[in-house]
Amino acid sequence: MRAEHPAPPAAPQQQPQQQQWEDRQHATAVAHPNIALIKYWGKRDERLVLPRVDSLSMTLDIFPTTTRVRLAPGADHDTLTLGGRPAEGETLRRVTAFLDLVRAQAGRSVRAVVDSHNTVPTGAGLASSASGFAALAVAAATAYGLRLDATARSRLARRGSGSASRSIFAGFALWHAGPPTAATDAEADLGSYAEPVPAAGLDPALVIAVVNAGPKAVSSREAMRRTLDTSPLYEPWARSSGDDLSEMRAALRRADLEAVGEIAERNALGMHATMLAARPAVRYLAPASLTVLDSVLQLRKDGVCAYATMDAGPNVKVLCPRTDAERVARVLRGAVPDGSVLIARPGPGARLLPGER
Ligand code: DP6
Repeated sequence: MRAEHPAPPAAPQQQPQQQQWEDRQHATAVAHPNIALIKYWGKRDERLVLPRVDSLSMTLDIFPTTTRVRLAPGADHDTLTLGGRPAEGETLRRVTAFLDLVRAQAGRSVRAVVDSHNTVPTGAGLASSASGFAALAVAAATAYGLRLDATARSRLARRGSGSASRSIFAGFALWHAGPPTAATDAEADLGSYAEPVPAAGLDPALVIAVVNAGPKAVSSREAMRRTLDTSPLYEPWARSSGDDLSEMRAALRRADLEAVGEIAERNALGMHATMLAARPAVRYLAPASLTVLDSVLQLRKDGVCAYATMDAGPNVKVLCPRTDAERVARVLRGAVPDGSVLIARPGPGARLLPGER
């Protein structure tokens, strides 16, 4: 068996600490995806995953990811299965890099076996990386014996995938970009985390039109990098996004779903405009996405409060009152008969499964 360095403390008075480490050999966590109403698009620091703009999202009650992390003393590398299949290449590299961060925080070197099950199609702009890294952050931190509060879990999840910082929390969450000029990496890291945003009195649903569940051609990571580097529309969008956020917070406070939807839709369309102006352009929206957007316009003309948002993929999410969700879903099913339509509501934050610490 390979020794783990540094060795757990052996002094008698530290026995309880060692006991905790020995006990916490594994943990299983569940997290749900979130959909941003004010988008995260563009990093100011890729290594630390620090965003250019603040963002705000709703965690969903569907498509959970369940992840188990088990420490593997003696193993010389981490292993990862996704949906029961061994993962390799970039996916494994990203998970190992993430576990390295956890190991550094815990002062441990032992490798891990990670087993993750997504119920959402991976890489299709349906936020699988958000639920995936939020679940991994909670499970890995626990398995390695780190005691992290929700804010620290959010910071940690952020290092795996920016949007994962928000899936730590139930309902609506605001991810602070953090101070743009921090003196040290540690200070920059500390300033960038998500926190819950109260939205009492709001009773929304998000109707999701899955027009194509296949993986995207350009990853969101690459697309946001290219947009930041080459799009003349990026800076104006980033500036206006700050105003969108202030208005969004006020709209949430007064439980004004119409305003929430209007702001979310313009923020998302603006984000897609920045990508269309990138060189070369990144276009995620497909003909079927535009068909859904037309239906949303028609729903509004018919008096339904329905507003769309789209991420790094062709699927469209429509925000509406919960009481109108079935009607909106019916209309969208008619608009994209080859797609599938699901209704999501505000969902829970990331959590350990019962029986796990
Ligand atoms: C369009 O969080 O997947 O969904 O930090 O590079 O992993 P990385 O990116 P990711 O980007 C999500 C972008 C978005 C908007 C959003 O969720 O805010």
